Amino acid sequence: MRNNKLNTLILIFLLVSFSLHSQTNRKLDLFIDKPTGEVPSTLYGIFFEDINFAADGGLYAELIKNRSFEFDQNLMGWNTFGNVQVRTEDPAFRQNPHYVRLKAPVHSFKSTGIENSGFFGIGLKKNNNYQFSVWARTNQPDSLEKIRIELIDSENNPVQSAELIVNSEKWKKYSIIMRSPVTESKSKLRIFLISKGMLDLEHVSLFPVDTYKGHENGLRKDLAQALAELKPGVFRFPGGCIVEGTELSDRYNWKNSIGPVENRPTNHNRWEYTFKNRYFPDYYQSYGLGFYEYFQLSEEIGAEPLPIINCGMVCQYINAKEDQLPVIKLNPFIQDALDLIEFANGDSTTHWGKIRTQIGHSKPFNMKFLGVGNEQWGEEYIARLEPFLKVLRKTHPEIQIIGSAGPDPDGKNFEFLWPQMKKNRIDLVDEHYYRNPEWFLTHAGRYDTYDRNGPKVFAGEYACHTASKKNDFESALCESAFLTGIERNADVVKMATYAPLFAHVEGWQWRPDLIWFDNLQLVKTPNYYVQQLFSTFKGTNILKITENAKPISGQNGTYASAVYDKKTDIYIVKIVNTTTSIQNFNLEFKTNKGTHLRNIITYTLKSIGLDKCNSIENPNQIIPVIENINNNLPVLKIEPQSLMIYTFKL
Ligand code: AHR
Repeated sequence: MRNNKLNTLILIFLLVSFSLHSQTNRKLDLFIDKPTGEVPSTLYGIFFEDINFAADGGLYAELIKNRSFEFDQNLMGWNTFGNVQVRTEDPAFRQNPHYVRLKAPVHSFKSTGIENSGFFGIGLKKNNNYQFSVWARTNQPDSLEKIRIELIDSENNPVQSAELIVNSEKWKKYSIIMRSPVTESKSKLRIFLISKGMLDLEHVSLFPVDTYKGHENGLRKDLAQALAELKPGVFRFPGGCIVEGTELSDRYNWKNSIGPVENRPTNHNRWEYTFKNRYFPDYYQSYGLGFYEYFQLSEEIGAEPLPIINCGMVCQYINAKEDQLPVIKLNPFIQDALDLIEFANGDSTTHWGKIRTQIGHSKPFNMKFLGVGNEQWGEEYIARLEPFLKVLRKTHPEIQIIGSAGPDPDGKNFEFLWPQMKKNRIDLVDEHYYRNPEWFLTHAGRYDTYDRNGPKVFAGEYACHTASKKNDFESALCESAFLTGIERNADVVKMATYAPLFAHVEGWQWRPDLIWFDNLQLVKTPNYYVQQLFSTFKGTNILKITENAKPISGQNGTYASAVYDKKTDIYIVKIVNTTTSIQNFNLEFKTNKGTHLRNIITYTLKSIGLDKCNSIENPNQIIPVIENINNNLPVLKIEPQSLMIYTFKL
């Protein structure tokens, strides 16, 4: 009798645990043998705009602000002492005519000179070399003048100094290497006139010698390296709203951004005044990071260059319709587009190809994509896009044209623009979405029903904005859920680029942003790691993965996609779990290949709190964890609030 009772209890226990087990393990079907499409190499890319001090003060390694004295207030960014004047007669550079004249004080105890604090200070690294350079002239025959250059630490102590003799009455470049004995994020550069006469100074520059790939006029190494490590397939530049300008005269003009840096005219930056509470009166564009540098960077990080050009429209948020360039005056803008294609792709016998060759790149950059307009909308956009298309299709059918779907992923402008894009047979439509977590989660299936025969999609700007507008884990998790939908639909969505890319911790206007930095360090956000994981494991072919014959796009808070990488013969399954409990899946293989899995590795990015972020002080709080698993068919145990990627061979 007692034995019977015991047996019954054991049976009940077994039944309960079996049913619990079968309840918790969901079943995923992975269709190995029939890829549903190819993953374009451009799928995950980057979008760079000079916002948040991303260029001057950021990726562009120049350490001196207003080096050419061309800000509207010519001495903005400079402290001057003694006898200093701004002058323009007989300038060294036609397009940057202002320079300073320093005259020695009468009393030997007094000083004349200038001082620059860079962008929120000058970042120096101990034992690193910096190239100081300046254009100078004595402006008087047979005179020799002398300057002393000092690096000043945050406590106002000179930590390094050097002297230069200016020996010509004609403009000449002088340079000297200075080694910093300290690491200091808030240094200054001070220049004293130490001879008794006077001299003129122009284009004062301080540049780290150790730039990305060692280029002169190069890029800050750690920031460029972080871009390379994203393995981007496409590189969209230079904007964004700065393409448009508030007035046509301050639109981004690519022709002003090439050639000798000293003669690239300084431009306004609309991010100076866009947000009243993040006003930066000293935010300009030096164009030191210009189109040549953008193309060069694209090549060096293995990304397809994708420039956006102005289509004769200023920023529609700020300007009324009547401020737009009349369509009949569009020709020079269309010519700019044609010249750009020649600059990128023409051989050295062409006018612009020759200029590129003279700058230092005889091989064409092989540009394949061109965006006409940034975030434009309305009939006024179509009226300007169509003349561009007419000429570009005829002269450059090889170039894929990107048109805008406006600033929102739905609504009146969007609904108007998409049919126009179809009618005009645009190659890719640029969709933008800065939306909240709920939107990202509920729109993960957005592209499942897109027209397979229409223009393709370029998700050219997107980011999940949580209530805090920080790069918290929640935003990254929601983006990863959404990206599974992009990946599943990579036959329609050919490119996706997070925005914005960079932000200086002291100089930002817009957040969240993918990479934060100060003058010495950078922070990779959880969003960065999501991009990096998806990009590294983008594979080459889309595989169908389903639960109950449906894509996994929100059921029980989970999202999934799968790809095969024919280059490495690896299968990749990405699963996002947005719930607070572990989700177990049995993976069923639809294949004739056999199901013995080898070399299983997991990459996990998981929550330590949805509101947690990485920071300068604590940059590695949230990073992917890599684990090797035995060569068994695993139950996929997807951690609560995590992105998990399984890679394996069969
Ligand atoms: O990424 C920031 C801004 O957002 C871009 O400049 C613009 O295109 C969009 O409105």
